[in-house]
Amino acid sequence: MKLNVKNIRYVSPEDWRVLTATEMGSRNHEIVPTPLIAQIASIRSGTGVHKSISALAKIGLIAKVKNAKYDGYRLTYGGLDYLALHTHTKSSTIYSVGNQIGVGKESDIYVCASPSGRNLVLKIHRLGRISFRTVKANRDYLRNRSSGSWMYMSRLAALKEYTFMQALRREGFPVPEPIAQSRHTVVMEMIDAFPLRQIASVPDPAGLYSELINMIVKLAQYGLIHGDFNEFNILVEEKHGEEGTPVTLIPTIIDFPQMLSVSHVNAEYYFDRDVACIKRFFSRRFAFTSDEPGPFLKESMKTMTKRLDVEVEATGFSKKMAKELEKYMKEVGVDGDATALERDGDEGEEDAEDVDPEENEPEDPDAPEENVKDADTAKPSTTSPADPSTLTTSMTVLDIQDTDIQDTDANALPSLEEIKQQTQSQQRKPTKSAKAKAGWSI
Ligand SMILES: Nc1ncnc2c1ncn2[C@@H]1O[C@H](COP(=O)(O)OP(=O)(O)OP(=O)(O)O)[C@@H](O)[C@H]1O
Ligand SMILES: [Mg+2]
Repeated sequence: MKLNVKNIRYVSPEDWRVLTATEMGSRNHEIVPTPLIAQIASIRSGTGVHKSISALAKIGLIAKVKNAKYDGYRLTYGGLDYLALHTHTKSSTIYSVGNQIGVGKESDIYVCASPSGRNLVLKIHRLGRISFRTVKANRDYLRNRSSGSWMYMSRLAALKEYTFMQALRREGFPVPEPIAQSRHTVVMEMIDAFPLRQIASVPDPAGLYSELINMIVKLAQYGLIHGDFNEFNILVEEKHGEEGTPVTLIPTIIDFPQMLSVSHVNAEYYFDRDVACIKRFFSRRFAFTSDEPGPFLKESMKTMTKRLDVEVEATGFSKKMAKELEKYMKEVGVDGDATALERDGDEGEEDAEDVDPEENEPEDPDAPEENVKDADTAKPSTTSPADPSTLTTSMTVLDIQDTDIQDTDANALPSLEEIKQQTQSQQRKPTKSAKAKAGWSI
């Protein structure tokens, strides 16, 4: 499941059409019948489609599913990565992709650059890649889940993260500037800072502590609880002022897929847990303990400023989506870093293994082996801000051979509605053989 951008320049314009067609077909087919891929891609000659299908399968962007009732393919995470990169490139958001700077339990973080050379962060959500400790309990659940539904959950996580970041940024919260979102990816400003976890000492622990606690309170006054507010998700930048003046520390908050509303049934539990994470870290790392009890959610909510939770629900991330994502996270035991931190104690590292949802899928002999053990850390990565001098040398330019399939009328792919209508009328043909010919499972 490692992002491999090296092959992107070998993907031909026809291949892009076929890849996009496979994605469109995936919306209502777990395994997209080959004739449907051809129909959506509407490449006249059958050989063109087949050539593209084998080219895409060879580099692992789609995979043939063995033992299926009909001949068909599914989109892989690799294919989804390429489609997202295609969109980010076409919108002039991303020009090149560089090193991986973080591996989380459920996401990969890469540095990338805009066409003007600005360094950005590409966060790729990879739900379904669960740390080993939760896998045993969930093995059956994992097995019964299709890779398509993992991808859908990853898309939801990216959309949620992006929507919340936009709202928070608008209200002046210290979060990275959200730049773009496509499918399971979010592009955001790169913060040149270390996670608090990596900072051994600070000049004024009490000051930083109250700034962070105030942020938890302020979030609640805007209707929100971060849900994973801890030393991994707080980046701290050192600002050096005039000589002789003390260094100021500027915290930035990241990682929002678990954010929740203050109206959530367990709001108090998550609010208290966010507070407890900060208290525990400051006490262990900086030997700082506050004399004041709390803060408490009820107290914090006495003066509400705005309801961002309600706003976000109305503008991008619906209640239904929130419920779906939450259900998934609960079922597979995704609970951010907080539970692990509580259980393991502060400094304990642990062994873990990741499971790839695609591991449970039938294998494709043609597909290249995907590196399923690429992320053998259960704890969020301890990354350092990328060194700009090494970044530029390791960047791969996204050299996409594509005559913009969506923009030229002659080449435009049909809409899914059109396809549905066409296939419905085809399906009305009563003979079994006609259906079989069209590749539908019956
Ligand atoms: N905008 C950013 N600028 C700089 N570094 C970042 C940025 N976003 C993420 N990182 C780095 O990547 C690491 C992981 O990012 P993040 O916390 O968003 O995802 P995650 O922890 O992998 O998610 P999960 O909670 O699913 O494990 C961070 O600890 C940080 O070091
Ligand atoms: Mg994190």
